[in-house]
Amino acid sequence: MKVLVAGANGQTARHLVRMLVEDGHEVRGLVRKEEQTSSVAENGAEPVLVDLEEAGAGEVEEAVEGCDTVVFAAGAGPGSGDARKGTMDYGGAVKLIEAAEKRGVRRYLMLSTIGADDPENREEAMRPYMRAKGRADERLRNSDLDYTIVRPGRLTNEEGTGSVEAAESLGRYGEITREDVARTLAAALEARNTHGKTFEVLSGETPVAEAVAAV
Ligand SMILES: NC(=O)c1ccc[n+]([C@@H]2O[C@H](COP(=O)([O-])OP(=O)(O)OC[C@H]3O[C@@H](n4cnc5c(N)ncnc54)[C@H](OP(=O)(O)O)[C@@H]3O)[C@@H](O)[C@H]2O)c1
Repeated sequence: MKVLVAGANGQTARHLVRMLVEDGHEVRGLVRKEEQTSSVAENGAEPVLVDLEEAGAGEVEEAVEGCDTVVFAAGAGPGSGDARKGTMDYGGAVKLIEAAEKRGVRRYLMLSTIGADDPENREEAMRPYMRAKGRADERLRNSDLDYTIVRPGRLTNEEGTGSVEAAESLGRYGEITREDVARTLAAALEARNTHGKTFEVLSGETPVAEAVAAV
């Protein structure tokens, strides 16, 4: 499968790119800075240089051209300010949804977050981020793409365990390693049971493939 990973130099996405290449996929890694292209290439992916906040529709469409799947693993990041939650976490994701629709890319995996459906229930500082993620997820659900929305808890940089807990609603908040989130996305990519689904994921005891197959 040919997969575009948006935010390919990000902490979760770097794991994902490596795993997808190992799984035999052809990966295009979207980054916004020239100096990030070499690390994408070192991971075995084809770099493509696009700033998702600055780029016009045509440039984003060219980036997805020929791909079977888009994975949105980019984000404005902590400390980026409320405006960039709108331009990146919402706007960047939506530009890629629209590009996928225009260029016939059927599959779209969204790296979202637990709580995106209920921003008003979170502490005030987190609300603009949660609202942006929730609106982007909503736009994707209203598309006719074969989507999967993966919602992890707080991301950590520990080594992954290969086991998680995943369900439409877990009824709790917690942590998960970025490596295990990447493994979950890689497993969901070809899991037809996840088409049209939104699910939460936290660290747990079930092997990733089994947990994803059961959502
Ligand atoms: N942190 C958490 O606890 C948490 C929890 C749940 C979900 N999430 C979500 O999980 C995802 C991955 O998180 P992470 O911490 O692994 O990501 P990260 O390391 O912050 O990486 C995000 C990537 O997005 C890129 N990016 C930012 N603006 C861009 C733009 N305009 N155009 C293209 N690329 C752009 C960044 O590039 P630069 O290096 O150039 O900035 C960076 O490489 C994000 O969507 C985040 O919202 C995070």
